Amino acid sequence: MTIHRISLTINGEYEQVDVPSEMTLLQMLRDKLALTGTKNGCNAGECGSCTVLLNNEPVNSCMVLAVECQGGSIMTVEGLAQDGVLDPVQQTIMEHGGVQCGYCTPGILISARALLDRSPDPSEEDIREALVGNLCRCTGYLRIVDSVKDAASRQLALTN
Ligand code: FES
Ligand code: FES
Repeated sequence: MTIHRISLTINGEYEQVDVPSEMTLLQMLRDKLALTGTKNGCNAGECGSCTVLLNNEPVNSCMVLAVECQGGSIMTVEGLAQDGVLDPVQQTIMEHGGVQCGYCTPGILISARALLDRSPDPSEEDIREALVGNLCRCTGYLRIVDSVKDAASRQLALTN
């Protein structure tokens, strides 16, 4: 087994990690770095529960090799809150009851954050499109979509 030492930034912290060639980003996050907020729902690129940002773009971390992240920047759900203050997408999903079992939630939060970063005032269609790769078996999506709309409004209010 070939081991590679990779350097990358994870949630703003510089890290060096030794990873086997075949290790996925999801495995590295959970098994090497104990960042277990990122969930393994299908390990096949179908459910979105493992979504993280790689260089500011949402990716299914089960479908990315850790070695591909050399020099990159990763954000996981653990990186959303800043100085103990929840990200608006975290705050509103709680308030709207958009979490039931919670398994999909970390991936949904990351996809929502990516959406609001590129599109601060999204339409409902934009929100549904951004979340199309994040499957939720519990909530029916309505509360999640409402929570992202609310997060966008709060964020816009802060910047205006
Ligand atoms: S665990 Fe990666 S897409 Fe389902
Ligand atoms: S809250 Fe259970 S899968 Fe979404």
